[in-house]
Amino acid sequence: MSMTLPNAIESAGKTRDDNAFFEVVWRDTESEATGYLVIDRLFRGIASGGLRMRAGCSLDEVRGLARGMTLKESIHYEPGAQYVPLGGAKGGIDFDPYHTDADAVLARFLQAMAPLIATRWTMGEDFGVQQATIDGILPGLDLTSSIQAAEQVVDDPRAAQARMHTAFSSVVDEVSLDELVGGYGVAQSALAAMRRRGMDPVTSTAVIQGFGSMGGATARYLAEAGVRIVGIVDVEGVVANPDGLDVETLLRSRSAKGSVDRSRLREHDTQRPTSDWLAIDADILVPASVSYCINEDNQADVRARLIVEAANMPVTPEAEIHLTARGVDVSPDFVANSATNAWWWWVFFGDVDGTPEQSFVKIADRLTALSDEMFDRAAEQNISLRAAAFALASCRLDEISNDFPTY
Ligand SMILES: NC(=O)c1ccc[n+]([C@@H]2O[C@H](COP(=O)([O-])OP(=O)(O)OC[C@H]3O[C@@H](n4cnc5c(N)ncnc54)[C@H](O)[C@@H]3O)[C@@H](O)[C@H]2O)c1
Repeated sequence: MSMTLPNAIESAGKTRDDNAFFEVVWRDTESEATGYLVIDRLFRGIASGGLRMRAGCSLDEVRGLARGMTLKESIHYEPGAQYVPLGGAKGGIDFDPYHTDADAVLARFLQAMAPLIATRWTMGEDFGVQQATIDGILPGLDLTSSIQAAEQVVDDPRAAQARMHTAFSSVVDEVSLDELVGGYGVAQSALAAMRRRGMDPVTSTAVIQGFGSMGGATARYLAEAGVRIVGIVDVEGVVANPDGLDVETLLRSRSAKGSVDRSRLREHDTQRPTSDWLAIDADILVPASVSYCINEDNQADVRARLIVEAANMPVTPEAEIHLTARGVDVSPDFVANSATNAWWWWVFFGDVDGTPEQSFVKIADRLTALSDEMFDRAAEQNISLRAAAFALASCRLDEISNDFPTY
């Protein structure tokens, strides 16, 4: 099976084999918004992937994100587990999420997609879209939940809903579990990579770009492991301290959209403009906000030894060639940030009961094992971590294709 990597889809020549299974372009009748749904692969009739909104969102971006979802699903295939990976999909709306009409645009897009959400597309929040907003719109469209389609392939939908209720009502140290699992997985991937490279957490430093769901939780769990968080970046700028920031205070006081409350900074913390984010010296860099933020223009400024992709597609292929040649490890998005998606399904299908205890154990086990497999394969074949992870995901995708039908 010939497939292009998610972050290279934009520049790839499209072959029939490499194309998505299904693509929809939606044009809003009331505004300039254009929306896309890409179903990259379908297994047992279902594909999974969130919906993002940002001004400038393009069909190629959504294609790349949908391909990433296929890899994030397939890499978690464990024969015998309750969770059998679904296909990968993604929705995207080209519209400013801060515009006063954003929720109305979202509602019209969801109305147009309702038949697919009912039967084919399990979806949820992504950049610029809040799950609570989606959940408020769906009942008016006769949809019970954003993952309604998956009820067709679960043995006991009521038990699945009960586990989901446990999971989504759990709170750990003032932050809800569903906002922690993704970043917890990123932190586990980072710690596994550090072990492979002989980096001691207690003497290591990290900069986190983005302090929302992914960045906030990654910062919490890296700090808990002893890593000094010397820089946090949000849409308003950089906060930094070479001796380490007080992550817990900043986490518990951040805004709903992931902005740091500057009034909670300590005496020796400093502030810099967002554009300075690569100037902070650190061993580990965690991009956890926008796509394409490490590119050919700024890759030379990266001083870290390890980049762990919490965001989707933050490193461009051109930048990665230079980084890899300089010995910088890039732990790819479809491994490092895969825990949120997998966790929803481990809970829904019953591999995990939805409690924080079982959730954290499962995520740590799987993300550590996947990271180790990726490092082993990269070393054996002298290839990049992304190429090694892609090979692992592709093998599992072939297995799923053999074991399960498209519909
Ligand atoms: N939420 C998830 O479960 C999940 C799972 C996998 C991947 N991702 C990816 O992770 C990334 C972040 O998602 P999230 O849900 O944490 O988002 P979020 O909306 O919760 O937080 C985004 C953060 O990025 C900051 N930010 C926005 N623009 C910025 C800029 N130009 N420079 C620096 N910081 C900026 C915001 O201030 C905020 O702190 C996205 O790429 C998303 O696709 C999210």
